[in-house]
Amino acid sequence: MEALAAEKPILDVRSLNVVYGETPALKEINISFARNSLHSIIGPSGCGKSTFVRCFNRMHELQGEAKVTGQILLDGDDILTDDPFSVRLRIGMVFQRPNPFPSLSIADNVLSGFLINGIRPKKDEADAIVETALRKASLWDEVKDKLKKRSMFLSGGQQQRLCIARALAVEPEVLLLDEPTSALDPISTGSIEELMLELKKSVTIVLVTHNLSQAGRVSDYAAFFLLGELIEYGSGSTFFINPKDSRTDAYLAGRFG
Ligand SMILES: Nc1ncnc2c1ncn2[C@@H]1O[C@H](COP(=O)(O)OP(=O)(O)O)[C@@H](O)[C@H]1O
Ligand SMILES: [Mg+2]
Repeated sequence: MEALAAEKPILDVRSLNVVYGETPALKEINISFARNSLHSIIGPSGCGKSTFVRCFNRMHELQGEAKVTGQILLDGDDILTDDPFSVRLRIGMVFQRPNPFPSLSIADNVLSGFLINGIRPKKDEADAIVETALRKASLWDEVKDKLKKRSMFLSGGQQQRLCIARALAVEPEVLLLDEPTSALDPISTGSIEELMLELKKSVTIVLVTHNLSQAGRVSDYAAFFLLGELIEYGSGSTFFINPKDSRTDAYLAGRFG
């Protein structure tokens, strides 16, 4: 797997293993991710994609049922042993279902990433943070006149962009997106794909997606997971056209999964 060793990677995953109870979910994952690129994680349901990205912002210890071993180096710091709050400021996450706080205002949703991590921005800073994050998430023009309104009045696609704004507000180095468009209509999906293409210029994106054509459109690199193992990782242009492993080929051709 020649593309495995990115030069000066932002993220370097070494011998990552995750076990739920007695059942292994990820086995000896070694992969490194180049900075300011978009890396897609693909593979059939249940093969460990969510388990993988959850390791990166220490989600497993919130739920407490997984045993995670190995190393994940973020610019050389092992995020599996660092303080989880500081890790979550450096690595943001967005989930499949948009999950803004429905009773909080749009502005407070954007700021909630700070509050959750124990930081309270000063009032004059807060307005600038809200505007910057909403602009980065391509939502500002649609919501600038209703920042004090509750987020539940937004459409699904707008709610997901609000969740992206919330994740971006703390200026993370890495953005994890776990099937961010699978609950959205095609138009909202298109706007989030455009957004990912813009964002990857300044933040490293790890995208889990079931949508192979989406992965083909947006990926700089792609990784194929199967039954908890990393089967193949490579640059998007060759991965999708000329995969090396017959299992990747079979999956991309729709022969299983
Ligand atoms: N919280 C959990 N407790 C026990 N097993 C889990 C848990 N989450 C996921 N698993 C199991 O781990 C495997 C990988 O799941 P997951 O990472 O969610 O896969 P994917 O995101 O690729 O669909 C599956 O067999 C799943 O049933
Ligand atoms: Mg999943």
